[in-house]
Order: sequence, then structure tokens, then C-alpha cells
Amino acid sequence: MKMRITILCENLVGRLGGMGEHGFSAFVETSRGNTLFDTGGGQSIVANSLTFNRDLRTVDKIFLSHGHCDHTGGLPAVLKLKRKVTVHAHPHVFSDRIAVLEENGIETKRFTGIFYKKTYLETLGAHFVLSTDFVEVENGMFLTGEVPRKTSFEKPDPRLFSEMDGKKEPDLILDDQSLAIETEKGLVLILGCAHSGIINIIHHVMEKTGKQNFYAVLGGTHLGFLAPEQLEKSIASLKRLDVKKIGVSHCTGMLVACRLHQEFGDRYFYGHVGSVLEV
Ligand SMILES: [Fe+2]
Ligand SMILES: [Fe+2]
Repeated sequence: MKMRITILCENLVGRLGGMGEHGFSAFVETSRGNTLFDTGGGQSIVANSLTFNRDLRTVDKIFLSHGHCDHTGGLPAVLKLKRKVTVHAHPHVFSDRIAVLEENGIETKRFTGIFYKKTYLETLGAHFVLSTDFVEVENGMFLTGEVPRKTSFEKPDPRLFSEMDGKKEPDLILDDQSLAIETEKGLVLILGCAHSGIINIIHHVMEKTGKQNFYAVLGGTHLGFLAPEQLEKSIASLKRLDVKKIGVSHCTGMLVACRLHQEFGDRYFYGHVGSVLEV
């Protein structure tokens, strides 16, 4: 399948006229139609779609990698343009979630879950398909569903919690899922935040598709927010896998992005606002 991926929302801007924000969204064009993976935080998706000439009204499916607000915040803006559209997500996407951060020496709680009620999004045109399964959403296009956490070194972000009936618990973000697309050059894998662990995700896709070679892995890796040992082991594992291009974005963080550039050289690229990957 021929395809073109354009990063519409991301922390950094790499093309004139684009707008950055903390978040992620990728516009995916294939011979079977256009789809949207995540919607950013809501500030930049419409502006960037106009700047880079990617018409959000042509999207016939939306995939949500997980419920965090920096991936779901743009949903109302997209729905107001598109109206009726199927939105694929995990059932936990509507969970209330918080991040407990230390800012200037003070513990700060921030709400990080989806800002909108399901019913509100439905009135704007969303038709939710909620599933935990690995699903072929289009011919040759796979949504991973819930990813089994198998590696010993990929751990959840300790700052993230879910809150149910006033009870705070560590948030494993079981809703984290990624999109894999078959191309002539190998699989292309798009990550949201990779909260399940980039290596767990790659292994899950290999197991479910029976395919081993990845032309590209791109998106948020979350490696910048986790322990240094996890980064080292993830790099070592990535080197053993058949991945031709690694295009990191968003929650990878600048220091880890630089490190990955050192490690992967020509195979590395930064996926900024306006980056295009054509296969
Ligand atoms: Fe994120
Ligand atoms: Fe996230």
C-alpha cells in the first residue's frame, strides 16, 4: 500500500508556518483513504492542517492512541469540520487521569485525561468503536489494541495516576495503542506515547502480523520521561530489531532524541510538525 504520513501536531516545528504544541497527531494518506492518528492538544491541528494542505474533512477514520489530553484535545475541532466519523479507541480512553509533578519544589497535580464527555463528542458526530483487541481497521492497516507488557525493563511512568471515586492508583495506561501499516518496504508503525513500551509494541505487532521488518517506527516514545536503564535497554533491543528508520517525536524529549540520533545515525530523523514520510 502506498502511503504518506504528515505530522500535524508535535512539540517542535520544522516547517515554515507550522505551529507547535505539546501533543501528537499524524495525518495518514493511503490508497484506501485518509485517516487521522490522534488529534494533538487542540491548539494546532486545524491551523497546521490548513498550512500543510491536509484536509481534515477527508478523514474517514480517527484512531486514538490513548486518552491523554495532548492526543485527544483536538477531537472537537476535527469533528466540527468532519461531522460523522468513526473513532477507534480502547474502552479506558475516557478514564479520569492525573499527573503528579514537582514544579519549583512544589507538588502539583495536573489533570491529563480526555477533556470531553463521550456524549458531547457523539453530538459532534463521533461514532466510537471501543475495543481492546488487535484489529485490522483497513486492509493492511492494524490498530494494536491493548499491548501485553512483557519486557522486564519497560516500566510505567511513575508520575501518572488514574483517579476513580477519589481513589488514586498508578495509571498503567492500558489504553495505549499504536497503528501499523503494511507497505512494500515493510511495516510502518506510528506510536502515540508508547506507554506500553516501544519494544513491547514492536514485539506485539510482529507476533500479530507475522512480519518482522519495519520500514519506519515514528511518534512519541516516552523514553525521555523514564529511567536511564530503560533507555539503554530499549536502544539495545531496537538495534537487534529490523527497523530501517526511527523518527521520534513528542514525549521522546530533546536529550533522548539527540542520543537516538547518535545511536542510529542516518536511520534517525526527528518527526516535527510538518515532517512527511512517503512510502
Ligand atoms: Fe503524549
Ligand atoms: Fe501519553
